[in-house]
Amino acid sequence: MTARVFLNGRWLPADEARVSVMDRGFLFGDGVYEVIPVYSRQPFRLEQHLARLQQSLDGIQLANPYRVEQWIGFVTQLAGQAEWQDQSIYIQVTRGPMAVRNHAFPAQITPTAVLLAEPMSPPPASQREQGIDAVSAADIRWLRCDLKTTSLLANCLLRQLAVSAGCVETVLFRDGFLTEGSASSIFVVKHGVLLAPIKNHLMLPGITYDVVLELAVQHGLPHEVRDITEAETRAADELWMCSSTKEVLPIVTLDGRRVGAGGTPGPLFAQMYGWYQEFKATVMRAAP
Ligand code: PDD
Repeated sequence: MTARVFLNGRWLPADEARVSVMDRGFLFGDGVYEVIPVYSRQPFRLEQHLARLQQSLDGIQLANPYRVEQWIGFVTQLAGQAEWQDQSIYIQVTRGPMAVRNHAFPAQITPTAVLLAEPMSPPPASQREQGIDAVSAADIRWLRCDLKTTSLLANCLLRQLAVSAGCVETVLFRDGFLTEGSASSIFVVKHGVLLAPIKNHLMLPGITYDVVLELAVQHGLPHEVRDITEAETRAADELWMCSSTKEVLPIVTLDGRRVGAGGTPGPLFAQMYGWYQEFKATVMRAAP
């Protein structure tokens, strides 16, 4: 069976869905996106993902082609028809095609909207049990990292640094402070306190980041949301990465040096991972 994708209001077999080479998403990376995890066909934190989609669209001055209820309908339909129970749903909206290549916006804009589902491939259990290795790099991205734009070249180059070094993620520092990972949010644990970088224009407001902080509040885990220095990050007792597709993972080495005393996943990670799974199960049970 060929997967069906949504393209500008139509459901098509993936191999029949075509976009113009003059699309600004293709030529300029002029677009925004979302990645929504789906468990047992239930989208997780859908409203929050759609709210962030709206923020990203506002940030690039592109009118949302659909109302929230319409997006919910499309996502629900896709989650229901895809061949997998657990999925990752990708949404992309670009500023659409232009007649001639021109950086300035066209007078008439017809956005391109795409939705597609892929099987959710959770990280292997070994990554959770033994932890993952990470490298660090200077955060070379632009100053609107709060927008989830499809202009991801810097993120791709930064992620490749990790992969080329046999690692999973690249932890980014800007001007001596922790920002996030190439495609994840990063948390530090020190002396039993969970430290989270402040959401600002230098990092994506992660949906999973919010869940982790909510769980910390709910379970009384001491936490601080504040600027975190590179030195503090390197001296962490525990380091975590999180995202919609990876959930929460423990980083056990950074640039080849052990994180914390053991270089193994820490006790607070184990707690948070358990809370996260419990929370997911509760949300899924409550779903209609
Ligand atoms: N990326 N920071 C960056 C730069 C990211 O690309 C992502 C996720 C996150 C985590 O955000 P969330 O918890 O909302 O998934 C933080 C997605 C998964 C991607 O690009 O595929």
